[in-house]
Amino acid sequence: MEDNKRKTAVVDENEIAKQRKFCEKVASVVSKRYGEKPLACVITYGCQQNVADSERIKGMLKEMGYGFTENRFEAKLIVFNTCAVREHAEDRVFGNIGTLKSYKQENRDVLIACCGCMMQQQHIADRIKQSFPFVDLVFGTHVVHRLPELLFNSLTRKKRVFEIPDMDGAIAEGVPVLRDNDRKAWLPIMYGCNNFCSYCIVPYVRGRERSREAADIIREARELIADGYKEITLLGQNVNSYGKDLAPKVTFAELLQRINELDGDFRIRFMTSHPKDCTKELIETMARCDKIAKHLHLPFQSGNDRVLKAMNRHYNRAKYLELINYAKELMGDDIAFTSDIIVGFPGETYEEFKDTLSLVDEVKFTSLFTFIFSPRKGTPAAEMPDPVSHEEKTKWFKELTDLQEKISAENMKKYDGRSFKCFVYGKGKLGDNYVASRTDGNLIIEFEGDESLIGTFQKIKVIEPLTYVLRGERERN
Ligand code: SAH
Ligand code: SF4
Ligand code: F3S
Repeated sequence: MEDNKRKTAVVDENEIAKQRKFCEKVASVVSKRYGEKPLACVITYGCQQNVADSERIKGMLKEMGYGFTENRFEAKLIVFNTCAVREHAEDRVFGNIGTLKSYKQENRDVLIACCGCMMQQQHIADRIKQSFPFVDLVFGTHVVHRLPELLFNSLTRKKRVFEIPDMDGAIAEGVPVLRDNDRKAWLPIMYGCNNFCSYCIVPYVRGRERSREAADIIREARELIADGYKEITLLGQNVNSYGKDLAPKVTFAELLQRINELDGDFRIRFMTSHPKDCTKELIETMARCDKIAKHLHLPFQSGNDRVLKAMNRHYNRAKYLELINYAKELMGDDIAFTSDIIVGFPGETYEEFKDTLSLVDEVKFTSLFTFIFSPRKGTPAAEMPDPVSHEEKTKWFKELTDLQEKISAENMKKYDGRSFKCFVYGKGKLGDNYVASRTDGNLIIEFEGDESLIGTFQKIKVIEPLTYVLRGERERN
């Protein structure tokens, strides 16, 4: 019966097995060509989703016999994993690829590959084809798991390889992962986006929403905990719509609850939540589950209802505030909020922008990610009349960041005397005998303590708010 089947595609196991075989073939080619353990340099732009993809790219490269370097001029394989979300991100990538032209001329055996969200756009792939002839391999976001095969083709044929199928996307399980950090892990729970916010390129370059099976996510979480990971961040463009394509359906709140029940001392984070799908059930789950960080990243983009409608966001200011206030009601001072904001959406007036300022003033966010609108080719907003000058938008932007700076400074004073559960992540900067720790809301508290505390959770009381960090002391139980 149809109802028993998930609604989105999964990559066939045989395909994954075939890629494993290609790993062996590549390993044999590269060891003949370069000798023992040639180095690869993977350069990542963009959001955590891309960071997680790069960890899979590195996992596969490791199986193909590569070692790793941060220095691209030492590498036999250079991979750019790119982001398309704003023009500035794209310009940086083109600039960086461009600097490799003469290097490639002098080092013909070096291979240059480009992948990620930028490459999934045909006009960008065309530009690489024409203007960057020294790029050997270009592949889109839907074929990351086929890297072994694509790299094999690139190494053994005399032709450049472009593989950018336009598709909805599928879930690939069983791809090896090489993680960047041994305490903090990214755990993708879903891919793609169905929301088509009018300014955003992500749905075009990442395909439709598709969820990993809960059992696969829980297995990975369990392995991470067993390996000593202390912070697990669940990733998706809109985690609140997790599980809608699964059969039986699983809600995001249920998934959180199940991970919370796993044994071990760890903290669960998640991002990003879309306000239109954020439920009271989710907020209640956060309040109830002791391992879920009391941090809600809930991007509101604009505080004005007309602008929100033009952005195709499907919620209004009142609904957003209702969610925030419900979370405050259940978790009081314990909950930290962060958000994303776009300044100068096409047609936004200063009066409308003031609604964004007033919302920021009302909620008191811990921190904000603020962006000036950047037109993205192929999105509806890129075609909308945009009469306000960039100079004017820059002034509004400054007004917003000034306001948030004032609020952050006031927040710091409010933390004085309060206690937080913190994860100790490294050495401090306030003095030789200090270590640094993070609260659920990503505030940094430094305290005097031994380095043996690194990698543990501790209860820390704030004794002095400084400008960007808090000074605290360890509470004895
Ligand atoms: N899925 C997440 C956001 C992913 S993109 C969500 O819906 O919350 C991260 C942020 O980049 C967005 O929240 C938005 O604030 C910003 N952004 C996306 N497209 C943009 C554009 N064209 N111009 C400026 N900022 C943009
Ligand atoms: Fe972009 Fe909107 Fe999807 Fe977020 S929810 S990725 S902003 S389209
Ligand atoms: Fe950029 Fe792609 Fe993420 S466009 S923000 S890397 S999903």
